[in-house]
Amino acid sequence: MKKIVVLTGAGISVESGIKAFRSEDGLWENYPVEEVATHGAWFRNPQLILDFYNTMRKNLEEKQPNPAHICIAEKEKDFDITVVTQNVDNLHERAGSSKVIHLHGELTKACSSKDETDESCFVEIGYNPIQMGDKAKDGSQLRPQIVFFEEAVPNITPAAKLVSEADILMVVGTSMQVYPAAGLVGYVKEGTPIYFVDPQPRVSALKNLTVIAEPASVGVPKAFEMIEKL
Ligand code: APR
Repeated sequence: MKKIVVLTGAGISVESGIKAFRSEDGLWENYPVEEVATHGAWFRNPQLILDFYNTMRKNLEEKQPNPAHICIAEKEKDFDITVVTQNVDNLHERAGSSKVIHLHGELTKACSSKDETDESCFVEIGYNPIQMGDKAKDGSQLRPQIVFFEEAVPNITPAAKLVSEADILMVVGTSMQVYPAAGLVGYVKEGTPIYFVDPQPRVSALKNLTVIAEPASVGVPKAFEMIEKL
């Protein structure tokens, strides 16, 4: 089976009703990143961070995977697919994708605030809130298992290895502005076809690139149709 890595960003969840970050009404338009998504913000105002992600987590429950998430999951019958996502939602898993690597954490998980990379302290909390006083296994205050800006991205290592071994790379719904995630396109073997799905694609000159300027629910099935003709 051909190995496909699908790198996704916030754009793939837009049609599920989850705002992206850098669009006109994007999340970062309403909330300064510095206040709700940086390592420093957690120490300055942990309650604001808990409230922000408790609201986001609660809202996730009624969101549904869209045809793009579902198509990627269904194509596992024809391809060896791994999803590498920058998203913290669980829509790929709920659509049925069996191999999903989260680069920036998972909204339905909590972690230690002493060492956010200590996976032995990760706990699945579903759509429930984290309150002040909730403790991780190491005794520290529990916090959202979200990789904040300025923090390490441990999963970039396995993700880069997978991209370097992929026969095909598909990139869906990311502005390619945040590293190290955006740098993953540079790990493909020479000659690997890259399919880029985004209604407003902003992609640098990449070799073997096919750009599909459509929303994900249209563009992802179209990309797979092209791949099936390879
Ligand atoms: N289908 C596909 N792509 C879409 C759609 C859609 N329906 N709607 C918007 N997009 C595209 C936009 O054109 C844009 O290129 O999705 C992209 C979203 O870009 P960002 O908002 O920057 O989101 P993302 O690239 O995932 O951000 C990366 O930055 O803020 C941090 O940690 C956060 O994981 C996030 C990271």
